[in-house]
Amino acid sequence: MELSALSKVIAPTLSRQLFMMAKQYDDVIDFTLGDPDVPTPKAICDAAYNAAINGLTHYAPNAGLPALREAIAKQVSIESGNNYEGKNVAVTIGATEAVCMSFMACINPGDEVIILAPYWVQYENIVKLLGGKPVIIDTFKEGFEPDLNAIFKAINERTKAIVVNSPNNPSGYIYKDAFLKELAEMASANNILIFDDEAYRSLVYDGEFPSIAKYCRKEDIVIINSFSKQFAMTGWRVGYVVADESFINAVVKFQQNIAVCVATPNQYAAIEAITNTEKYAGGIKDVFQKRRDVLIRELSKIQELTFQIPTGTFYAFIDISKTGMNSKFFCFDLLEKQHVAVIPGVAFGEAFDNYVRLAFTLNDDKIVEGINRIHEFINHSK
Ligand SMILES: Cc1ncc(COP(=O)(O)O)c(C=O)c1O
Repeated sequence: MELSALSKVIAPTLSRQLFMMAKQYDDVIDFTLGDPDVPTPKAICDAAYNAAINGLTHYAPNAGLPALREAIAKQVSIESGNNYEGKNVAVTIGATEAVCMSFMACINPGDEVIILAPYWVQYENIVKLLGGKPVIIDTFKEGFEPDLNAIFKAINERTKAIVVNSPNNPSGYIYKDAFLKELAEMASANNILIFDDEAYRSLVYDGEFPSIAKYCRKEDIVIINSFSKQFAMTGWRVGYVVADESFINAVVKFQQNIAVCVATPNQYAAIEAITNTEKYAGGIKDVFQKRRDVLIRELSKIQELTFQIPTGTFYAFIDISKTGMNSKFFCFDLLEKQHVAVIPGVAFGEAFDNYVRLAFTLNDDKIVEGINRIHEFINHSK
């Protein structure tokens, strides 16, 4: 059978490739996937169970359960400073489907989408699948803060949107308030939409989380978020898009044809989670803040590695230049020789071949053991 042209536009992601390869070793220390190793809080599980045994097992509305849409609107209104209602919300299969359907709702072939690097690869893939052109900004002013001048120069009449992901996967960097304000002004002045992926907004360790949403008018921004990382609910597959009502109506048309709706009991779990965001997300954040500190302590012992301390997310983006290896060689050789799985920097943009990403979604003992093995690997490679 001849596969479609569309099926050849994108390749399987490097992250998944490494994750699958890691599975062949019994003793592997796996730093690949951003999947919290803590259990979903029990009350959230109970909400889904109670829904299921009480017969709430039928199709839900395409846009999501009204009570969930209302609860999300309430929470995002608090977080963004804009006033949202249930009609501004579509419930999706994780943020992954939210990104996919949001891009489908507004990108035409030939449209350009500015993506701030390093970046989660799905943005680039979906833009390409839609016949759009990803425009990657990988020059920095300070830390991982993209150069506003470079963004400005990349804007032209075909620029449709700018993707902002802060706290950032893979760098763990949180964009500064002043940068976000200027970026929002630049986008608004040029009639460019902001895609604001806030999947890691609850995982902020040092200081406040400035959201670009507070500088955008409702019609200029699409907010994407997920229950996955905030509530340790990756496998439940619940996320959402918050935007203008007309935008949401377009997204819901896609949902009708793609999946009908998110699994109904899972939506009841999501109601329990989001109506108690502080209670659940705060505890999960504390776990990863401690893990971050353990990881940084251990990594600091390896002279050949340099890094910025991640202020958010559960990722560390490590500069491996001093080892003399490129990122793919480092990762494949490390996996083969020491059974430690990390992701090559090139999975997050071509400019990052001297980086690797570690997800610290493992317990302290595994983190210590994994970093010891990386140390040994580097020592033996000299
Ligand atoms: C930046 C970012 N956005 C969205 C997602 C998707 O999360 P999910 O589909 O599990 O909600 C991820 C997953 O790793 C991510 O890193």
